[in-house]
This record gives sequence, C-alpha cells and structure tokens, in this order.
Amino acid sequence: MPTVTIQPSGKTYDAAVGSTILAAILAAGDSITHKCDGKAECGSCHLFVQEGRKTISKIQRLENEKLDTIPGVGSKSRLACQAILGEENVTVELLGFGSGM
Ligand code: FES
Repeated sequence: MPTVTIQPSGKTYDAAVGSTILAAILAAGDSITHKCDGKAECGSCHLFVQEGRKTISKIQRLENEKLDTIPGVGSKSRLACQAILGEENVTVELLGFGSGM
C-alpha cells in the first residue's frame, strides 16, 4: 500500500494501488482543486510529483495534451486525476494556485 505525502503541508496518507492521486487525496479528506471532476479537461489538479514517479502510470495522450497548455509545467508535472498510483510511495507538491485554469 503506497503512501502519499503532500507538500508543503507534510501530511501523509495511505492510498490504494490503482487509485488516482486525486482520489487518494480526496479519500483522505484533504482538498485539491479538480474543476472537471477528473476528465483531464481543466488542468486545475496540476501538481508536481517530487518522489516516487517510477511506479505511477505513464502519461497518456489526453493528459499530455492538457499539460501542454498549462504554464509552469515541468518534468515532474502530472494531473492528479490521471496519475494512477503503483506500489511506490509518492511525494507530491500542491501548487496552491490554479495553474491550469
Ligand atoms: S480535475 Fe480537471 S484535469 Fe484533473
């Protein structure tokens, strides 16, 4: 069972393999902007995966196309609604602003 650590708060949650980072954060009772409810359309769930990228699902076409439209995207960027957790613990950085809106 992977854990998801949220920065900058430092909160850590247990999550299920196969759930999206968005679902894991919401299931833990935390909040993250997700205006399109996980359809890779809004970009508001953009975050940086700082650690644990190896077992997260690969970026697919829809996510890639949306990321291309978001200012400030970098090599650690993912959409929380599209990144599916694997076995590895991950640390994500919430950007704290609507980078994809
Ligand atoms: S919730 Fe809209 S792109 Fe992730």
